[in-house]
Amino acid sequence: MAEPRTSFEIGGMGHSVKRKEDPRFIRGQGNYVDDIVRPGMVFMDIVRSPYAHAKIKSINTEKALALPGVAAVITGETLKEYNLHMMPTLMSDTQMVLPVEKVCYQSQEVAAVVATDRYSAADGVELVEVEYEPLPVVIDPFKALEKDAPIIRDDKEGQDSNHIFHWESGDKEGTAQAFKDADVTVKQDIYLPRIHVASIETCGIISEFNSVTGQLTCWMTTQAPHAIRTVIALVAGHVGLQEDKIRVISPDIGGGFGGKVPIYPGYIIAIAASVVTGLPIKWIEDRRENLQADSFARDYHMTCEIAADKDGTMKALRIKTLADHGYADAACNPSKWPAGLFSICTGSYDFKTAFTEVDGVYTNKPPGGIAYRCSFRVTEAVHAIERMVDMLADDLDMDPAELRLKNFIPSSAFPYKSPMGWEYDSGNYEGALKLAMKKIGYDALLKEQQEKRERGELMGIGISSFTEVVGAGPSKDFDILGLKMFDSSEIRIHPTGKVTARFGTKSQGQGHETTYAQIIAEELGIPVSDISIEEGDTDTAPYGLGTYASRSTPVAGAAGAMACRKIRDKAKKIAAHLLEVSEDDLEWEPGKFSVKGIPKKASTIQDVAFAAYTNHPQGMEAGLEAVSYYDPPNMTFPFGSYICVVDIDSGTGEVKIRRFVAVDDCGNIINPMIVEGQIHGGLTMGFAPAMLEEISYDEEGNMTGGSFMDYLVPTAVETPKWETDKTCTPSPHHPLGAKGVGESATVGAPAAIANAVVDALSHLGVRHLDIPLTPEKVWRAIHKNGS
Ligand code: CDP
Repeated sequence: MAEPRTSFEIGGMGHSVKRKEDPRFIRGQGNYVDDIVRPGMVFMDIVRSPYAHAKIKSINTEKALALPGVAAVITGETLKEYNLHMMPTLMSDTQMVLPVEKVCYQSQEVAAVVATDRYSAADGVELVEVEYEPLPVVIDPFKALEKDAPIIRDDKEGQDSNHIFHWESGDKEGTAQAFKDADVTVKQDIYLPRIHVASIETCGIISEFNSVTGQLTCWMTTQAPHAIRTVIALVAGHVGLQEDKIRVISPDIGGGFGGKVPIYPGYIIAIAASVVTGLPIKWIEDRRENLQADSFARDYHMTCEIAADKDGTMKALRIKTLADHGYADAACNPSKWPAGLFSICTGSYDFKTAFTEVDGVYTNKPPGGIAYRCSFRVTEAVHAIERMVDMLADDLDMDPAELRLKNFIPSSAFPYKSPMGWEYDSGNYEGALKLAMKKIGYDALLKEQQEKRERGELMGIGISSFTEVVGAGPSKDFDILGLKMFDSSEIRIHPTGKVTARFGTKSQGQGHETTYAQIIAEELGIPVSDISIEEGDTDTAPYGLGTYASRSTPVAGAAGAMACRKIRDKAKKIAAHLLEVSEDDLEWEPGKFSVKGIPKKASTIQDVAFAAYTNHPQGMEAGLEAVSYYDPPNMTFPFGSYICVVDIDSGTGEVKIRRFVAVDDCGNIINPMIVEGQIHGGLTMGFAPAMLEEISYDEEGNMTGGSFMDYLVPTAVETPKWETDKTCTPSPHHPLGAKGVGESATVGAPAAIANAVVDALSHLGVRHLDIPLTPEKVWRAIHKNGS
């Protein structure tokens, strides 16, 4: 975007306004679910399975019930009486709330204890006696598809294998032909392991039911309060919970990253328990429960192939994937997209043809497949294509930057129709990569690498030129459980010119209270300091689908701009009345209408707001407010080019990221400081799985790293220094020209790091390494001959 249109005091688009929410956060005045205390509140804790697959022979609750302070023990049998022992997932699969017959993964909820305090609830959990009979366990998704594999979901009618879905996109025959005709083909198996969002705040709920009024109020850690309210009404309507009497409130949330979209059994058990006991019930997961039982991300086994001409012109892409969803498909993708938006896998390149197919599989692991800071499987897609481009460059003995520049979709080709059917809105891939190369000093690094190799030192340079697809989404293609993925904004200008605006999304730390206020400031010229933003309360905010997949700016942000424009249309009529001229004689600049040619004859937006309640034209309705439900015409396609430089210690296998340059393009920027913060956080969340994080299981389904002793989240010590820059290619269809940005860096970073590490080792014959690139894995790759 050019220079900001508004002054810093107004604080519209392009100003680094300080975050309005921070004064309460930095003073410890945030209001998270666990901060809320209700009169007479009791506490819930959960009994969890030590087995990954086992029959439940009996559950004895007597000792637990005898413990002082314990008020109730809830089992699957209790819930079955109300037909609440099963629930739908957001992917129209089913999932146990509490088991009646068997458990299907380690740490699964088996029973819940309600007590007067958290400690008694935990002591009660120890006293619940469960007798299990172990069943054969399937952990490997390939083995899960074998004929004699035990059927995990034998509760589902007609489910005679562990296969969940088959999904494909693109031109199968055309791609096969292109592979036959190609000069060069490259094939590689790539695995993106299970990881976990590990938000600072774990999940929780306080459920309060008033048996006299039938009102249910849930304060809960959800990224999508409206959709969750509808699901609660659908699941529990038959026991009298009706949608108009359900209020879901998401107070402050300490990080969501997709992990707070699913409906977890704990929420439903707490709701059922509050209805049955009539007591307000608080349930807050502990750190281990969060890591061991909540939805995971990735777990994609991809077989990737790329076909090209000898000169490096990329012709075709083919990817076959096995998606391990654990015990249930609880991925939270839009309904028509069981593999999310994985078909963005042709990335930034002008492929003529492509084909991808994905099969979902059940295994004895916790359910999920969520979009961890990623617009539904885009990280998986970007990792596949960006690793493959590097492998092709290696095979052709071409520089990876040169190969990318040769194959990028040219700026002149936008809007660009991809072979998978996407219409990319805008892009300038060459601009972003060239800026990154200049900033990092690419040519000098190549020279340095050559010299180091001659001295036996290991240095690598890795590029990732990713394309994202965010802003779900146009209602013709995108829904969750049938709910179209529009979003909303309701803006009220009070008589004194101050504003209350409510949105259908819910910030989990992204700074919506600031950036949404900036959108209103941009459109109406009202200072950010005069605007209050509210989200997350279904009783007050307009219906929306929530915040995940970087959809807030593309969808709800656009709704905010459109609502402002409706307000401006009415304001113009009032200004014409006040200035006693025709509407056609008025011109607008942010904050005021003036008479054309007589700039002094003007009405400010504040004058108009007062008049809307005190002196509006006869026949016009009083007030100045509007609501918009925005259905975007297309997705937005942010992009970027990242370059990473690593040095590797050949004695220990330790990888040091010496430099990392990130050039991002998210179109017009609302708040540059917030965007930079999003990119820094996103890069760190891309660094984490590239170098450290992985959830794995042994043959019996025991999680091998169930605490932060083994699941290594990065601290400030490990995190590299990020160098950021940007280009700006506005979205042509978004009312503000903005694209989403929250996830770009998480999506783009892992491939840049992996490419750098493989590049450092390529002259030793290393072609590919799966992340995380732990010192042990890297050391083994260097010393594969025992040398
Ligand atoms: O949906 P979510 O808020 O996670 O993602 P987003 O829409 O990409 O926005 C993340 C944060 O960056 C929000 O505070 C946005 O308003 C801000 N942003 C911005 O200032 N300019 C953009 N072009 C995109 C996002």
